[in-house]
Amino acid sequence: MTTTDPTDASGIPRDDDTDTGARAGTPTAATTVQFGQHAPARRVLVHVSDTHLLAGGAALGGRYDASGNLDATLAAIERTGIRPDALVFTGDLTDLGEPDAYRRLREAVEPVAERLGAPIVWVAGNHDERGPMRAGLWGGAADDESPITAVHDLGGLRLIALDSTVPGWHHGAIDAAQREWLRQVLSEPAPLGTILALHHPPIPSHVPFFDILELRDQPGLAEIVRGTDVRAILAGHLHYSTSGTFAGIPVSVASATCYTMNLQSPADEVNGMDAGSAFQLVHVWDDSVTASVVPVVEADTADHFSPEWLARMSALSPRERLEAFSRKR
Ligand SMILES: [Fe+2]
Ligand SMILES: [Fe+2]
Repeated sequence: MTTTDPTDASGIPRDDDTDTGARAGTPTAATTVQFGQHAPARRVLVHVSDTHLLAGGAALGGRYDASGNLDATLAAIERTGIRPDALVFTGDLTDLGEPDAYRRLREAVEPVAERLGAPIVWVAGNHDERGPMRAGLWGGAADDESPITAVHDLGGLRLIALDSTVPGWHHGAIDAAQREWLRQVLSEPAPLGTILALHHPPIPSHVPFFDILELRDQPGLAEIVRGTDVRAILAGHLHYSTSGTFAGIPVSVASATCYTMNLQSPADEVNGMDAGSAFQLVHVWDDSVTASVVPVVEADTADHFSPEWLARMSALSPRERLEAFSRKR
């Protein structure tokens, strides 16, 4: 790939710059070329949240097909053609922490992860139960109630899974021991920086009831992550897609697969709906991290862009491409 700036001072590409190059971890034609000024993304994560599976595949709240909606999300993930560096599930994996629900989750997700060649990062949520989660997902001790944390090395990108759950409660907190552990881990930077994944987002919600279920003592966590190599924070819990900043770090909240909050209502009337589920594509670039919300929908699309179109553009010089695609007709 080129490492030179493909534009001259006028902003018009130089004709001698062929600027093509492979993008890491992604085999589709759309990601094997570089037409612009950003070098290819270093890593790509798929961020999914709040699957809330129940034993026996029971309907969540008697009305939401959590299993079917997860399957639809997984099919949509595979349709992207992306081979992610990890599949990250930010908690509320099950609704009641039932062993059969964890078994069903693995049965649904593991074959997809295998086809994608991607590790799965499971993060605990307030609807999970630490012991059964540990036993169900890793064969660990079902009576081990300690926080479920992990550090993943995704080819130099460090992903730290935190456990923001408080056994017996739905609000969130990072206990003192986990904070100290996090401080220790972050004392050494990672080659491509760090992404934190936790269930309870360290940002406000405009929906009042989430205040009761918020992550407590956010200043205490901010003090630990500020000034470190943490480049982004991924979370769930809200059942709607949102973003913000925490200690100057971008926070991205993925919506839920099971049901989502209908924000087309006054804040004090927000309730769940069986629509609008989405996952996110997290691209880790040299100088940025982007989180793209992907609605899980079945919809006809136009057919203008294609691998053939991309091949035609790739055969052009940068100036010819501008003429072909940027100039107003
Ligand atoms: Fe949830
Ligand atoms: Fe939650």
